[in-house]
Amino acid sequence: MSISFRAIKVSDKVYWVGAIDWSVRNFHGYRTSSGTTYNAFLVMGEKIALIDTVKKPFYDEMLARISSIIDPAKIDYIISNHAEMDHTGALLQTIRSVKPEKVIASIKGAEALLKHYGPELKIQPVKSGDSLDLGTVHLMFEETRMVHWPDSMVTYMPEDKILFSQDAFGMHLASSERFADQIDSSVLYREAATYFANILMPLVVPISSRLDALTKTGWKFDIIAPDHGPIWRQNVSWIVNNYTQWLQRKPTNKAVIVFGTMWESTELMARAISDGLIEGGVRVSLMSVDKCFRSDVAAEVLDAGALFVGSPTLNNNIFPSVMDVLTYLKGLRPKNLIGAAFGSHGWSGEAPEQIAEVLRSMKVEMPEPPLKITYVPQENELIQCREFGIRMAKKLNNYIESYKNNRG
Ligand code: FEO
Repeated sequence: MSISFRAIKVSDKVYWVGAIDWSVRNFHGYRTSSGTTYNAFLVMGEKIALIDTVKKPFYDEMLARISSIIDPAKIDYIISNHAEMDHTGALLQTIRSVKPEKVIASIKGAEALLKHYGPELKIQPVKSGDSLDLGTVHLMFEETRMVHWPDSMVTYMPEDKILFSQDAFGMHLASSERFADQIDSSVLYREAATYFANILMPLVVPISSRLDALTKTGWKFDIIAPDHGPIWRQNVSWIVNNYTQWLQRKPTNKAVIVFGTMWESTELMARAISDGLIEGGVRVSLMSVDKCFRSDVAAEVLDAGALFVGSPTLNNNIFPSVMDVLTYLKGLRPKNLIGAAFGSHGWSGEAPEQIAEVLRSMKVEMPEPPLKITYVPQENELIQCREFGIRMAKKLNNYIESYKNNRG
């Protein structure tokens, strides 16, 4: 079957030959409500290189796009910047069909690909500073371990000043447009921030260090071509500046209140606490775990200064749906937060203290003990919740001031 997908020109010598996944809605636990793309790029020197491939079911789309400009058998090199299967699922099939002279990956990439696809894969490992001559153009490699996996590396083409950045600077967004300057900036911000929060937030330390290393290479970027979402050209500095902000994760005057509820009592508490926070001048995002997906909560936490988690007690434990979100957030390791636990219970009431224990393990500062109320909160108890919110608003402001004084 012949499919009529076409390559898209990125620069004089580079074409996008990836695939658009309009349907994916769950990306290992991250709700991708806008779908995604798996980007692959052809670099056309005297020799031809394919940078990354696509998720396995999209092999035919990628091959059709390549075939729209060259016979795929003319590809000399395949470069795998990142071993995760959304970029290598189609690798083995591509190698069998193209029979390239070399398949190139980082040293860790070679190990990872061997474990994924077996000894049929023959990889030439490269390290930072190595390069590949394609005749009229060449490609340079820089390892970027833990951006996103230990194998991650980026490839740079100095002639067109293009950084092929694999997962970094990407977003899960299926769209007709291939370039970020064709897309509304509010959509770009929301999707890039959500992607950063859910994929890269736990890795801010290695990412900062790799970005420093990239700066030291002296490479100039006119174009950043990530493995997901649109390609950056006129707005390269916009996305780099946003990364600089997100990597710092400075506390802001915003609180995320995430809660589960059994008979609406913990929800009443959440709403009363939110009213107190708003009274104290704090921006609030109130999120029910029954209505909001865990990755949407993570996206809200990215630019917050406070995290409140509420749960009823069910069989002496945290509500399972609250624990799901809490476990997910803990893995993402958000920094520089204050917070609190709360919840309604009937008799034993362990959940708020159990939440507090998890928040402490996340290094969330908790200036107030967990707020607990039995059964249905009465009017005076809702006033207590509201006052709790007002006190926490002051404590958040103090926390922000202290952060500015200590860390700028
Ligand atoms: Fe898009 Fe870490 O793979």
